[in-house]
Amino acid sequence: MPDILANYLTKAVADAYGEKAISSSDNTYTREVAQSVGYTDKEMDSIPASANMGVGCGSPVAAANLKQGETVVDLGSGGGIDVLIAAAKVGTQGKVIGLDISPEMISLARRNANAQGIKPPHASFVETSLAEPLPIASHAVDCVLSNCVINLVPSTAKEDLLKEVHRILKPGGRFVLDDIITKQRLPDDVKEDLTSYINCISGSIQVDEYKILLQKAGFNDFQFRETKNDLKKICSGVNNACTSSSGPKSIFNVNDWVASYQITASKSVNVEEGVKQNVPDSVLLRWWDAYPKIKSSPAAISPEYVSKLMKESAQDLAVIDVRRYDRVGDHVRGSDNWPAQTFYDDLPKFLEKYRNTRVVAFYCGSSSGRGPRCAGWYQDHLNETAITTSTAYVLQGGVKAWLAKYGNDDALVERD
Ligand SMILES: C[S@@+](CC[C@H](N)C(=O)[O-])C[C@H]1O[C@@H](n2cnc3c(N)ncnc32)[C@H](O)[C@@H]1O
Repeated sequence: MPDILANYLTKAVADAYGEKAISSSDNTYTREVAQSVGYTDKEMDSIPASANMGVGCGSPVAAANLKQGETVVDLGSGGGIDVLIAAAKVGTQGKVIGLDISPEMISLARRNANAQGIKPPHASFVETSLAEPLPIASHAVDCVLSNCVINLVPSTAKEDLLKEVHRILKPGGRFVLDDIITKQRLPDDVKEDLTSYINCISGSIQVDEYKILLQKAGFNDFQFRETKNDLKKICSGVNNACTSSSGPKSIFNVNDWVASYQITASKSVNVEEGVKQNVPDSVLLRWWDAYPKIKSSPAAISPEYVSKLMKESAQDLAVIDVRRYDRVGDHVRGSDNWPAQTFYDDLPKFLEKYRNTRVVAFYCGSSSGRGPRCAGWYQDHLNETAITTSTAYVLQGGVKAWLAKYGNDDALVERD
C-alpha cells in the first residue's frame, strides 16, 4: 500500500476516534459491550465510566496474568480502560503506559487517570502513532497489551509494529492482545469502505497472515483463540462502534466474515548476549511524553536582569531550579527546587505559591531542556486559568551561565 494511502487511513482513524473521545457516550450501552467481551462488573466499577468507550473486542488484561511491579504497555489505549485496570494489578511499584494516536483520546485517558489519583510513572498516556517507532526503551516491558487496534494500523506498518513490540519486551515477556480477524477475503465493497475500516473490519487480516507477521517479528511461540464474542452485539445501536459495517452494498452478517481472537505470544528467554544485563531504568524514552505538549514559548531572561531584580525588587521574582539528581554543587541563591520530572503533577501547588509573583524564572543545567519545558507548562497553566499576575521566563544559559558570571559572588550563589 503506498504511504499516501496509509497516511490517509491513519489520519481518518485518528480523526474518527478523536471525535468519539469528545462525544458523549451512552454508558449503559458501553458497559453492555464491555461485559459482552469479558469485563467483569468489578472491573467496570473500578474505573470511570468514560474510560470504557465500548470499542474493545475482548479483555486482554484478564488473560495477561499481570503481577505486582510489572511494566506494561497498551497499544491504542483509547479512554484508558485497560491501562487503568492493569495499573491496579501491577500496583504502585508497577508502570503502565498507554499509547494512542488521538490527542483527544490521550486527554480523556489522562483525565480518567487523574480522577482516580493515578499519575506517571504509575500510569502514563503518550500520544504517538503506532506506525512510528515506539517511544519505549528496548527490553523494558513485561507485557504488551492491545485491544482491537492492530487491525486499524495500515497493512504496510503492521509488520514493523510487531517488530517494535518484540524489541520493547524483556526476554520472556509476553504480548497479549485481542483483535478482529477475517475468516475469509472480505467483499471488495467492504474492503474499500472507509467506515468499515474505521470500525475495525476492513483492515483486519487472516490468522495465517497474522502468524507470518508474528514470526517475522521474532515471536516463535504464539497461540490464537477465537473468543466467539458476538460482534453483531457489539455493533448494535451505534454507528461508530468497532465492527459495525455501514455503507457497503454487500450488507452482511459481520459474524460470518470476521471474528474476535485473543492472541498470546512470548519473546524467547534466549535472546542476544547482554540483553538481560541491559534492562533500562526508564521505560519511556522521553519522560515528558507522559505530559501535555507545550503551547506557549516563554521568553528568555538574562542573568543580568535576574541579578538586578534579586537586589532591587526581590518580592517580584522567583527563581526555580528544576534539576533533580544533577542538582549538586552551587545554585542560584534563593532558588526553589521543583524537579522537572514531577513538575507537571505539582502545578496546582506551584500555582498557589507563585500566582502573584511577577517574574518566575526557570533554569536547569543550561536551560535548553527541562527549564524551558517547565516554564512552558507553567505559562500554559497561567493562560488556561487566565492568571495575568505572573509570567514564566527561562533563565538564559541556565546555572552554567550563572556560575560562569557570578560564581565568586556569595550574594548570588548558594553553595551546597
Ligand atoms: C477500537 S479503539 C480501542 C481502544 C481501546 N483499546 C479500548 O479497548 O477501548 C482503537 C484505538 O486505537 C487508536 N489507534 C488507531 N490507530 C492508531 C495508530 N496508528 N496509532 C496509535 N493509535 C491508534 C485509536 O485512536 C483508538 O483509541
